[in-house]
Amino acid sequence: MKNKPSLQAKSIETNQFEPHQDLIDRLQRHQRHHFKRPFADHTRLAFDSLIAWLEGWHGDVVLDTCCGVGESSIAIAREYPDVMVVGIDKSNQRLAKHSSYSSINKAQLSTYPVNAIPKNYMLLQADLNDFWRLLNHYIEQQSPAWKVIKQYILYPNPYPKKTQLGKRWHASAIFPEILKTCQCIEVRSNWKIYLEEFKIAAEYFGLIGELNNIEASQAPITPFERKYLASGQTCFKLDIRPAGSDKE
Ligand SMILES: C[S@@+](CC[C@H](N)C(=O)[O-])C[C@H]1O[C@@H](n2cnc3c(N)ncnc32)[C@H](O)[C@@H]1O
Repeated sequence: MKNKPSLQAKSIETNQFEPHQDLIDRLQRHQRHHFKRPFADHTRLAFDSLIAWLEGWHGDVVLDTCCGVGESSIAIAREYPDVMVVGIDKSNQRLAKHSSYSSINKAQLSTYPVNAIPKNYMLLQADLNDFWRLLNHYIEQQSPAWKVIKQYILYPNPYPKKTQLGKRWHASAIFPEILKTCQCIEVRSNWKIYLEEFKIAAEYFGLIGELNNIEASQAPITPFERKYLASGQTCFKLDIRPAGSDKE
């Protein structure tokens, strides 16, 4: 179908074959200097609409960051019917395709009634570099009745060239803010080194990480996952949690 990723996915092309040697230096630098870039107006507005949506909610919130077309936001909302799920992506082009993906999702998950699109999710167009900081500030200042209990980062752009280390979430200046929002994080990728580095970065901040393969027989929950699995690639999943917490 037009505008959907083709089923044949190229494997990762990289000149980096192990976790980057500069990762810890980067993390030390980010720990010393706070990220101060000014907020984009459109992300502030999107953030305000999220706060309005959550008004009166006294429960848990799950973030689906880099949600792309938001197919995973629906899958997560189904998995956690008692939480509010927020899908966030900066790409209006991707988010605009949500309705066609939500109908695919309806058709594929035949155990659900065809019209059972969950009501417990919303999608936001926002730059996560601003969103995470706005959210942390809001939580600190307002102590809302709701709580972020988990974050998903599904198939983030891998930036696989050695020189692109600083663009990966775990090596970017925003990483301490990501962990401040919520320390239970599920990250998926078809590039194992990305997740190995993410695990090293989380462990640097005292968290625990567990890295596993995704079973090829498992139903994909995002278009990128579908494309990678369909072309025979291995996908991986990293679960981050605070030290001393029970495994889900
Ligand atoms: C490779 S796609 C994966 C999309 C989806 N999770 C999937 O698996 O189909 C990565 C997504 O991250 C989004 N993204 C990258 N940087 C972002 C940022 N700073 N703020 C919000 N979204 C971002 C992109 O727009 C893109 O949709």
